[in-house]
Amino acid sequence: MEALIKAALEAGEIIKDGFKKNKEVKYKGSIDLVTEYDVAVENFLKKKLAPLFPSHTIIGEESATGKEEPEKAIYIDPIDGTTNFVHAFPFTAISIGFYENGEAVRGLVYNPVLDEMFCAEKGAGAFLNNERIKVSETSETKKSLIATGFPYSIVERKCPDVLSMLGRVLSGTRGIRRAGSAALDLCYTAKGTFDCYYEFNLKPWDVAGGICIVQEAGGKVTALNGGKHRITGDFIMASNGLIHEDMLEMIKC
Ligand code: IPD
Ligand code: CA
Ligand code: CA
Repeated sequence: MEALIKAALEAGEIIKDGFKKNKEVKYKGSIDLVTEYDVAVENFLKKKLAPLFPSHTIIGEESATGKEEPEKAIYIDPIDGTTNFVHAFPFTAISIGFYENGEAVRGLVYNPVLDEMFCAEKGAGAFLNNERIKVSETSETKKSLIATGFPYSIVERKCPDVLSMLGRVLSGTRGIRRAGSAALDLCYTAKGTFDCYYEFNLKPWDVAGGICIVQEAGGKVTALNGGKHRITGDFIMASNGLIHEDMLEMIKC
């Protein structure tokens, strides 16, 4: 973990350097952006981590080729919250998640702009800047703050289901936040700021780092049917556990 933290801190310097500068923005889709900084951070981390973890397959967002699910994987999102990064909205992070035989075993999410380092290892608890974190104790959806995000394909596909769910969640909870980084949404659920987070159509690198952090903070992570979340699955819900079933019902009905 120490070596991982060191690599993330160094990679964070690249993000800090670019945060207030003009970026070279390219389009992967109509609103799906990538900058030279995403590529630089990913290349840096792959180079650092490959010799440290030779038995793992490293899958980074900007160089991934397909829906891979190797036995031992390190999923890297070099900048989760690229749109935020481009607009200098300080909710942007490096996310690194270790998966072994389908289980999240180690996670690190680092926001270099706000200097927030979240990390967790299976069985050892979850931490923010070396302080232990825990999920919230809210047991009523009416008193809960919910986080979510929207797929980039919403522009083309409109996604009526996503929008109707939003209506139900808005009227059944204290409110919704869409901060623009799945990795940080998970970490803020882990530290009890959000009581629940859900989203469709994410990729493994968006969530792999944060899942271990939520679980080690005492939270629950599932698929839409309430069963085990798979890293290549198309829906994730993470919560404090207490409102999980009610939130799944609210979303499904
Ligand atoms: C995105 C963010 C966002 C989520 C999107 C993701 P990116 O990742 O996590 O919060 O809603 O679906 O793709 O593109 O900034 O790495
Ligand atoms: Ca992402
Ligand atoms: Ca990204």
